[in-house]
Amino acid sequence: MAISKNPHLWCCEADVVQLDSFVLEKILPKTGLLYPLAEISLMALVVDRVRPSHIFEWGTNIGSSAKIFHHITESLGMDIPIHTWDLPEDVPHGQHPGENHARLAKGLARVHFHRDDGLRGALAQYQIEKAKDPKIRPLFFVDGDHFYKSVIREITGLISVQDEFHLLAHDTFVQKPDAKGQSRESWVGCPTALQLSAQDYRWLNVGFGNPGMAYLWGKGKSSAHSSWQQKWLTGMDRLEIRLEKTLYKLMQKLRGN
Ligand SMILES: C[S@@+](CC[C@H](N)C(=O)[O-])C[C@H]1O[C@@H](n2cnc3c(N)ncnc32)[C@H](O)[C@@H]1O
Repeated sequence: MAISKNPHLWCCEADVVQLDSFVLEKILPKTGLLYPLAEISLMALVVDRVRPSHIFEWGTNIGSSAKIFHHITESLGMDIPIHTWDLPEDVPHGQHPGENHARLAKGLARVHFHRDDGLRGALAQYQIEKAKDPKIRPLFFVDGDHFYKSVIREITGLISVQDEFHLLAHDTFVQKPDAKGQSRESWVGCPTALQLSAQDYRWLNVGFGNPGMAYLWGKGKSSAHSSWQQKWLTGMDRLEIRLEKTLYKLMQKLRGN
């Protein structure tokens, strides 16, 4: 079954009939709607298109994304490891899973659980695997902390060490700033991170509502921007996010909401 139609790096195109049948018949019966349908479809398309040798993802939380990746790779006949990170028990975070950590993905043999900062852990594991096989072809899924600062740190951190990169980023739905401001920060941060760290790139955002998911891919390892340019670009984003939130609150007041 060929879900991805066009192998060219810059063309991400699905055979939509194949993709829909694959997700409906092979994945949903095993995962249900752990993620919205559009996002599960994007995960399936990207896994088939990239054919990764490894999947590195964070944060694990209850294990939904790890479970979805497990079933997608299994159904595509791909016997590859899925490494997943969440913060250690004693590091506080608003979405920390506590005792529910990895609940849905426990017992899946190809899923390996780690407790560390996702970027630090994934880069270390990537280097270990790369030393074993220089032809490693990883797919990264970034779903940890979605504040602007983290998005820039994590996405640029991944792109700057790879010649060709393929990333999925979660919580990228475009929305009004008061609904859940941090998701908007992902949407603003992704293109800036790409601009800062990639030589050439594309991105595809899907989702009819929260959380939303984006596929970011292209050629990495660029150092085209000076630290002054980086500060300027990220400073403008921060200003945009702040002004937008303030303006939105003001408009709400003026409208009497
Ligand atoms: C939205 S949840 C992820 C949902 C998960 N992918 C799933 O499908 O079940 C965010 C998770 O990221 C974790 N997290 C936050 N910052 C992190 C970091 N720097 N490294 C690893 N995990 C992080 C949180 O503890 C939380 O469990």
